[in-house]
Amino acid sequence: MDTSRWYRSFAEVEARGNSAIYEEWGLGVSEDPAVLALIDRLPEPRRQPNLIFGASRHLGAPVAPYASFRRWLSENWSEVEQLARTRTTQTNEAGRAAVLLPVLGLLKGPLSLIEVGASAGLCLYPDRYSYLYDGEKYLHPVDGPSTVLLECATTGSPPIPERVPDVVYRAGIDLNPLGVGDTDDMRWLESLVWPEQDHRRWRLRDAAALARVDPPHLVRGDLTSAVADLVERAPLGTTIVVFHSAVLNYLTPTARAEFVHTVRGLPCHWIANEGLGVLPEIDAQLTESPEVRRGKFVVSLDGTPQGLAGGHGQFLGWTNQTCTASD
Ligand SMILES: C[S@@+](CC[C@H](N)C(=O)[O-])C[C@H]1O[C@@H](n2cnc3c(N)ncnc32)[C@H](O)[C@@H]1O
Repeated sequence: MDTSRWYRSFAEVEARGNSAIYEEWGLGVSEDPAVLALIDRLPEPRRQPNLIFGASRHLGAPVAPYASFRRWLSENWSEVEQLARTRTTQTNEAGRAAVLLPVLGLLKGPLSLIEVGASAGLCLYPDRYSYLYDGEKYLHPVDGPSTVLLECATTGSPPIPERVPDVVYRAGIDLNPLGVGDTDDMRWLESLVWPEQDHRRWRLRDAAALARVDPPHLVRGDLTSAVADLVERAPLGTTIVVFHSAVLNYLTPTARAEFVHTVRGLPCHWIANEGLGVLPEIDAQLTESPEVRRGKFVVSLDGTPQGLAGGHGQFLGWTNQTCTASD
């Protein structure tokens, strides 16, 4: 993809309304031939705006207008380039558990959770977080309120369960598992959170602290090759759930199809929370208008859409009206 267009699209579609600084930086880079020439020295996947901006902030770039950022970037490009060649965008957002919870609530426990593309595994603790839906409905872990409260606005009456799920086994797969106890990994995850989103940075710290008490079992590997082994290791008598969020966009369409074929052949349920367009055969079942769908994630269970979600779990519009809170 043309790098200038990539940064403009990032600014106008992803950053606008979410991060004024990243919007300004994205537009600035898109019109700056000298900076574009630096970025174009990287292999295409490494030119990603989130990666370059995250690496810059990790190394101390000022959260300041484009002219200051540009000056800093020119002076520090070799370090940014090195970091962008070694790290990848592995944003781990515990908030996504709030849009997975109603789907998990449809399944009979106890549950064995297997997350593919887990990053540091923070989405593997839906039973350890507290939830607040629509500013009024709280749900807490069985032993009381959590240090992590996930807030989610809903429409369409998702079936919010009365209790958090009973999770008896949790494991994850990632090409590069991050360690909740590894200071540099955690600093990297913080650098990936957009500048103005302090609430997400606090949530990340709190969720990581909670996970450090009982760190997740994460294996290094490709999701399609490694998933069957983890499913096989799940305890007998449990409902096995393979899930993922914001992961399959990293795969080619052919690799996505291979993963879907693999997971559908395993004795497990499959929950996907992916951006619109990532799993077209699931999107094709949506009846919502293109305006309603735009920019949302599609939450599905066993290949059937259940809802449209905010990318960080901040809202959930339930679309599967055969199964709502009043059922
Ligand atoms: C954006 S992060 C999402 C992390 C987590 N699922 C969440 O929602 O917070 C995507 C993760 O998928 C991992 N990933 C990408 N391709 C993968 C593959 N083929 N096999 C395993 N993990 C992969 C990346 O390393 C990264 O940690």
